[in-house]
Amino acid sequence: MPDTLPFPARFGSNSGQPFTRRDGIAKVTGAATFAADNHPEHLLHAVYVPATIARGRVTQLDVAAAKAHPGVVEVITPDNCPPLPGDPQSKPFMFAFRFEALQDDTVRYANQPIALVLGETLEAATEGARLLNPRYTALTPRVGLDGAEPYKLEAGAFGGPGETVHGDIAAGHAAAAQAIDVTYETPEQYHNAMETHALVAQWDSDRLMLDIPSQAIAMSCAAYAFYLGIPPENVTIRSPYLGGGFGSKAVVNGPQVLAILAARMTGRPVKLMLRRDQMFGPTGHRGATRQRLRLGTDSTGKLTVLDHESLAVTSTFDDFVESAAFASQGLYAADALRSALYGVRVDIGTPGPMRAPGEASGSAALECAMDEMAEALGLDPLDFRLRNYADTEPGTGRPYSSKALRDCYAQGAERFGWAGRPRQPRQMTDANGCLVGWGMGSALFAAPMFTAQARAVLRPDGTGLVETAAADMGQGAWTALAQIAADGLGLPLDKVEFRSGHSDLPDAGVAGGSGHTATAGSALHAAGVEAVRRLAEIATADPASPLYGAGNASVVGRDGRLVLENDESRSESYADIIARAGGAEIVGEGSAARSPEAAAGHAMYSHGAVFAEVKVDPALYQIRVSRLVGAFAAGRIINPRLAESQLMGGMIWGLSFALHEEARMDARTGRVINADLAGYHIPVNADVQGLEVLTVHEDDPHVNALGIKGVGEIGITGTVGAIGNAIWHATGTRVRRFPIRIEDLLAGV
Ligand code: MOS
Repeated sequence: MPDTLPFPARFGSNSGQPFTRRDGIAKVTGAATFAADNHPEHLLHAVYVPATIARGRVTQLDVAAAKAHPGVVEVITPDNCPPLPGDPQSKPFMFAFRFEALQDDTVRYANQPIALVLGETLEAATEGARLLNPRYTALTPRVGLDGAEPYKLEAGAFGGPGETVHGDIAAGHAAAAQAIDVTYETPEQYHNAMETHALVAQWDSDRLMLDIPSQAIAMSCAAYAFYLGIPPENVTIRSPYLGGGFGSKAVVNGPQVLAILAARMTGRPVKLMLRRDQMFGPTGHRGATRQRLRLGTDSTGKLTVLDHESLAVTSTFDDFVESAAFASQGLYAADALRSALYGVRVDIGTPGPMRAPGEASGSAALECAMDEMAEALGLDPLDFRLRNYADTEPGTGRPYSSKALRDCYAQGAERFGWAGRPRQPRQMTDANGCLVGWGMGSALFAAPMFTAQARAVLRPDGTGLVETAAADMGQGAWTALAQIAADGLGLPLDKVEFRSGHSDLPDAGVAGGSGHTATAGSALHAAGVEAVRRLAEIATADPASPLYGAGNASVVGRDGRLVLENDESRSESYADIIARAGGAEIVGEGSAARSPEAAAGHAMYSHGAVFAEVKVDPALYQIRVSRLVGAFAAGRIINPRLAESQLMGGMIWGLSFALHEEARMDARTGRVINADLAGYHIPVNADVQGLEVLTVHEDDPHVNALGIKGVGEIGITGTVGAIGNAIWHATGTRVRRFPIRIEDLLAGV
């Protein structure tokens, strides 16, 4: 556990300070150990054999050839794979995904594991896997949005009905003086964390030790325990560092369970690390979508109807469908509002949660459609949004916080210089003759809180220790969380030891939904406050303390001292109080959950507005995003450096979504043809030119006691549409398919 990493010393309140990531140096120097860096004795290396067909059956594997290879220890196929005690098809808990663990010989998608080879070395296992030389009975795969009949969803991927309607849709259409009916498509995207999925599994009779990157430590312990038929407390997860996650490390996948089974079968520790190409299949992705948006307005530009339908691909055997249309549920107020989800089952690995699941794809289409509507009305896109953004949550009527979105519009537009934008396209050029376009998009993302626990200790030397099983995928959560914890304890950050990333620690909940800092942070803060309260009880009851007789409530912890709030001359150090009390540690426990009363009365979201400038070569139609300005109101910012970095990361992903990212499927084989980081394009530094984040001040007293919202996912929403709209403004060509490519613009010439 990385509990000895230094914090740079700072004075004063810890929250609000731009500390650098506490694990940054360990990561860039290679000192950080990731799951695959563990090499227990007698380790076996596992290599899984991926199906090269997308639909059919495995008819033959040359097990004898593989086993004959020197160093190959075991070959696991459906013929000898033990049944899993917990049925992987049963979906026994929330966020359970169905997966393959060699329980039969059917192939349901390309890259599905069809065998696992164990070797004394990685080389031996790799060669053994090659020698298996699978034969198949292959059926024609069903691929893409038109690969099968669509079906209507009963429920969204994270709950809620598959269709919501507020108001009278037919009346909304009938009342429209202007209307548009447009269809957008978004591609399949794959998480591609730098650290591919990896684990080292070790059994000690019926106890399981896992070194595995996890966004959801306690939930994963329970899941592995279920599938393997052991009590949850018998599973230990060590997850000190994650090399990215983006949602894919929050859920259990088949290859990992298979490696755990293999360790049990052989009685030896087993390591499995997926190859980059094996990330395209069994570990989830963002499903492709087709979205139809019908918008209508009255003659003043007020929306009478916003009707958003989304169709998204899912697998033949599970139910995760990108809830893209839900993106239209909260942002704009229309007299009539409808979101409806459809799915199509094709021969592909099941999609899963991927950074801003639903919102990223849905807001891309919505924000472009809003621009098309503005253009039909002859209105400036920002003006159009100002006429239509929602003050209260559509459907529930719960108020949004403090006009946050309007502040984002105003500050973002000011910083970008939006005023003076010509309404017509193809009006601006730069000194090199490039077409210049400006576009914008609104951003909205829910600010959830889950449940979490934490423990805080004041030690005899006056330092603190805090513990919670949180996950840091690289976003800096452990730094922000430690800052909050230090404030709770009334200590400077460098006097607090922070332990995390281990299942022995209190459950910090899931690092997902942009709710981790709010949730785990609230638990840590509460634990620290409780420890200080206990210390104050001791001091105020001790005649030898300068605080003797002071009311407990009037004593606060600050910089390692208890201080009487209205008479600062009366104070005493933590160490002195503890020493006189006998030298025992003072322990506080804390927990966090959303207040149901607060939630009943208030809509809880982060808000934002993104402004984009693109430059398009008038001859070659090469597209450059020259400037992005995002203004976001996300409650109290615990660490401005890290929060801005998260928002920038989200915006860069938005740029990636708009211009780069797409997994291309070979319709004949059902295989992704660019399953590597050479062919699967993501932006590099040269693609990201001007990038600026403004965090808009926001006090939201309702979300939680600390006023914390999330910053992890909102940056994508808004950015994709802003870039699409800027490209239209530069060129006059409206492209309704992402990523937008040179040939799409040439086709519009
Ligand atoms: Mo995420 S997709 O909230 O890890």
